[in-house]
Amino acid sequence: MHNISAAAGTGRENPRKRILFLSAVQLHPALKNDTIKRLHKRSAFTGRAGYIFKERSENAMPNEYDNDVFFSQYARMNRSKGGLAAAGEWHQLKPLFPPLEGTAVLDLGCGYGWHCKYAADHGAARVLGIDLSEKMLAQARLKNQDEIIQYRLCALEDYEYPENTWDIAVSNLALHYIEDLAQVFQNVWRTLKPGGTFLFNIEHPVFTSGVHQDWIYDEDKTPKYWPVDDYFRPGRRVTRFLGCEVVKQHHTLTQILMGLLGCGFVLEVVEEVQPSGEMLQLPGMQDELRRPMMLLVRAGKHV
Ligand SMILES: C[S@@+](CC[C@H](N)C(=O)[O-])C[C@H]1O[C@@H](n2cnc3c(N)ncnc32)[C@H](O)[C@@H]1O
Repeated sequence: MHNISAAAGTGRENPRKRILFLSAVQLHPALKNDTIKRLHKRSAFTGRAGYIFKERSENAMPNEYDNDVFFSQYARMNRSKGGLAAAGEWHQLKPLFPPLEGTAVLDLGCGYGWHCKYAADHGAARVLGIDLSEKMLAQARLKNQDEIIQYRLCALEDYEYPENTWDIAVSNLALHYIEDLAQVFQNVWRTLKPGGTFLFNIEHPVFTSGVHQDWIYDEDKTPKYWPVDDYFRPGRRVTRFLGCEVVKQHHTLTQILMGLLGCGFVLEVVEEVQPSGEMLQLPGMQDELRRPMMLLVRAGKHV
């Protein structure tokens, strides 16, 4: 699975191959970080990558969470150390969970597994957390183990979404890494049982269409405004996050909400996250009231 197969071409004949090449490089434990970075640059930004590696996923986008530098920064974030209570969205997301007692819960992009454990602790009968990152799953197995939770290394794009299987699908801050969001929505619709709930938190379109996902600053480095550009051009955005170049996918509000409605979902709740009163005391948090960063949606399969 981790084999580097061969220097087999440029990938130009199929743009997706360049992307696949990145995710495979990230997965290869023997590659040093600087090598990974150099290869990233060549492939993602100049398109001149000269190698094709065996890839684990046919469809997934590159995932920075297995990059050592990125992962170690992510591990320092409050949400990684403090779990749900330290996550800026939790005060709004928590009340949106449907009753969990006896349910089967699927977590898409589960990361450290905080939401899986929350579901287990609140009576879920069975939980499956899937994620593309080995490093994130290693933390999930360490910090959020439970006999009813299963963690599985799998891209959202590759999961089989068995029909009428889950009562609840939850996804926190993973869907803005998905290029074909409409396809994931359709798959979630299929895999939910009738009456099931899809609850997710995705980076807000105002945030994902932010230029480099950063403020424009004045001379004394105070954020002046949040620049939005190319809003109606969905797709790939290269951003800087935790000191690394990270590829995210911008989806417009229409695509997100109409995508759900088009599958047959009923929109039950749509909320934009604002910091809690407590969080507002933390440095820099007042600026989070100047533009939305996260969009919460609860959608039901009311059939
Ligand atoms: C910001 S973290 C959120 C983790 C977790 N849901 C939470 O809220 O703590 C995003 C997660 O999405 C995962 N991810 C990104 N792209 C993915 C994909 N295509 N398939 C599965 N997981 C993916 C990353 O590996 C990472 O664990």
